[in-house]
Amino acid sequence: MKTVLITGADRGVGLLCVNCFLKDGWTVFAGQYMPEWKQLEKTKALYPKQLFLIPLDVSDTESVKRAYSAVAEKIDVLDILINNAGIIKDDSYESVLDTFNVNALGPVRMVETFLPLMDKGMKRLCFVSSEAGSITAAHRTDNFAYCMSKTALNMAVRLMFNSLRPRGYTFRLYHPGWVKSYMSGRKSEVGIYEPEETAVCAFSQFVGDRGWEDALVLTDVNNVAWPF
Ligand SMILES: NC(=O)c1ccc[n+]([C@@H]2O[C@H](COP(=O)([O-])OP(=O)(O)OC[C@H]3O[C@@H](n4cnc5c(N)ncnc54)[C@H](OP(=O)(O)O)[C@@H]3O)[C@@H](O)[C@H]2O)c1
Repeated sequence: MKTVLITGADRGVGLLCVNCFLKDGWTVFAGQYMPEWKQLEKTKALYPKQLFLIPLDVSDTESVKRAYSAVAEKIDVLDILINNAGIIKDDSYESVLDTFNVNALGPVRMVETFLPLMDKGMKRLCFVSSEAGSITAAHRTDNFAYCMSKTALNMAVRLMFNSLRPRGYTFRLYHPGWVKSYMSGRKSEVGIYEPEETAVCAFSQFVGDRGWEDALVLTDVNNVAWPF
């Protein structure tokens, strides 16, 4: 049975990705950031042997290390790591730092910490980014915190790609589209995609192989490439 870890899995795109992997028979480690939000527990009741809930705050190095120990107690090989957790905040300096810590440094922490479990597996690293981080396609005039954090994430992924692709790792950099998810703190009424719609597309891109793994491309929910 193949294994995957998904960060920020309590709700939104992460939770719906959890469902896709479970339905496909994977063993899933779901990063749980909001224990008060009960959806993951309900899913656990349906898949008690396949789903493991792992307390995880990607902004906190000690939390990431504890999550690593909890996962490594159960498995020897992690096939796919999906860095999905993300936040959007206002543009105060403090919020910019918080947003960088979650959106850009979080995935770096995760990869650095979990790599020892991945070397013997499928070696796939997935990152949920955004068109908001694209310098070439930028059209906004504010949202400094979120946009800059996703640009920084894209650069981090490029650096990891340069160092880990020669070791056999493959990469997915995914833009989920405009999703009716919970980034504002409650389910959004505006947006183009329901979380389940983009999760299905994400799942097929995260799991499927490509004949062009030596290129790092930001692909969206329609599998269209974006400049970044
Ligand atoms: N929604 C969109 O239109 C859109 C567009 C482009 C890209 N994205 C990206 O897609 C990804 C998933 O977002 P989503 O739309 O599904 O948002 P979401 O519904 O808010 O889900 C993200 C999950 O990550 C959790 N989280 C927040 N901080 C965390 C931390 N420090 N450690 C671990 N988990 C944490 C969130 O908890 P809280 O709810 O408590 O914060 C939430 O459960 C994000 O990376 C986002 O930037 C979203």
